[in-house]
Amino acid sequence: MDLLKAINERKSQRAFKPDPVPKERIEEILKLAIHAPSAINLQPWEFIVVTGEEKERLSRRLIKAYKEKQIACSPGNVKPLPKTYAKRGAKTLELMKPFFEEMSLDVNQYINEGSCNFYGAPVAILFCLDDSFPNARLVDIGIALGYLVLAAHEFGLATCPIGLILAYEEEIKDLLNIPENKNVAIGVALGYPDPEVPINRFKSQRDDCSKFVRWIE
Ligand SMILES: Cc1cc2nc3c(=O)[nH]c(=O)nc-3n(C[C@H](O)[C@H](O)[C@H](O)COP(=O)(O)O)c2cc1C
Repeated sequence: MDLLKAINERKSQRAFKPDPVPKERIEEILKLAIHAPSAINLQPWEFIVVTGEEKERLSRRLIKAYKEKQIACSPGNVKPLPKTYAKRGAKTLELMKPFFEEMSLDVNQYINEGSCNFYGAPVAILFCLDDSFPNARLVDIGIALGYLVLAAHEFGLATCPIGLILAYEEEIKDLLNIPENKNVAIGVALGYPDPEVPINRFKSQRDDCSKFVRWIE
């Protein structure tokens, strides 16, 4: 039952307290994340956990890169996005708007710079994938990400997956000495949520399940 509760309650949070997360707790969460299934049990994920002053350095570098290149959060589609999907994204931003108005902040600035700063979380986790794997192995990484965010929630910790940083992968690899043959697949902000910040009251909606399903019986 705890699992169902965690699935229902979990949400991405976009404001964190600066309080550090004990290393043992981060390890516990990663140990749960690697229970994820993977093709042929290859366990293709590699995690880079960045904390303390190193995390601040990473944020500074990413914010600088964002200010220079201005690559913002986007679905990163390779063809024009069908209306259904575009509408969902727009609706989510629309529903977020009142919270940013309450904070007297611009949505795009908060999301883009916030993502580069892991929203002030004390822990940034980068999921890496060896470049010998095909894109299909990103599915395995995604499942581990799903396990990780749920495990973190169970411990009262908040998360936000951060895909924007992939636009600045070169900068990340350079700063953290990540070998050329390792690709950064996704980042995650991890820490204690700051309940005082209005945007953390936001919970995204889902379309009705019937919209996603075609039954063949
Ligand atoms: C692969 C992936 C990349 C994401 N990248 C970002 C990001 O760069 N910045 C951000 O604020 N949220 C990011 N998110 C969080 C999504 O916006 C969020 O999951 C979505 O709006 C649904 O909300 P929920 O997580 O609260 O259920 C990302 C989520 C995923 C799964």
